[in-house]
Amino acid sequence: MRKKIAAGNWKMNTTLQEGMQLASEVVNMASDEVKSEVQVILIPPFPHLTSINKLVESKNGIYVGAQNCHQEASGAFTGEVSAEILASSGIDFVVIGHSERREYFSESGDLLAAKTNAVLKNRMTPIFCCGEKLEVREQNGHFDLVGTQIKEGLFHLTAAELSKVVIAYEPVWAIGTGVTASTDQAQEMHAHIRQVLAENYDQDLADGISILYGGSVKPDNSRELFACPDVDGGLVGGASLKSRDFVDIAKSFQ
Ligand code: 13P
Repeated sequence: MRKKIAAGNWKMNTTLQEGMQLASEVVNMASDEVKSEVQVILIPPFPHLTSINKLVESKNGIYVGAQNCHQEASGAFTGEVSAEILASSGIDFVVIGHSERREYFSESGDLLAAKTNAVLKNRMTPIFCCGEKLEVREQNGHFDLVGTQIKEGLFHLTAAELSKVVIAYEPVWAIGTGVTASTDQAQEMHAHIRQVLAENYDQDLADGISILYGGSVKPDNSRELFACPDVDGGLVGGASLKSRDFVDIAKSFQ
């Protein structure tokens, strides 16, 4: 059974006070309202991680993730945070290769493979992001590009390692734009990703990996997106900054 996941990527938003308030609202509502089999993941800015982790510590089904990490364990990398440091803070998930990191911080496939290794080595779960820009889709290159992103970032892993990864498909043209992929567009890409996994590993492994959709997920479209057979949840940006909206999204699994 694949895990159902509602993950909220807060990006570079919320002061510590705002973040604590948001997290406590989500924790209170989600504990009462969200089905126990759904994993709810809060992904705040780095400085909030330990405080929010304390807040959710004893709550079943609610987890904390980081938005990025450095690939080395430690050393002279001023301003960076390693997977080892995150693991020592009790963090469970790390987003790797978000399109904003690929675009604004020039993160390459090789680098993302190294970051994925660091996360797995520290017994956390990578949420590995992939997705195409609009011009790639318009030229019908989106299946090849997403396949390549996944191969570059993940296919050096053993089957046992890969089985611990969560994948998030986030078409760049849908992020922060209010334009969501249609259920057909989401489903066909998720099925494609699963097929690429099956071809390079095996069907059982492909069937066991959670693939999240991200890009303008809102309470009024999450139900139909999550009802797609290969969509196992969402990586939510803007709507995760509103506790009511995020919890409603987390409630919208069938
Ligand atoms: P939005 O939900 O704001 O479109 O952001 C999606 C995203 O980038 C999540 O990682």
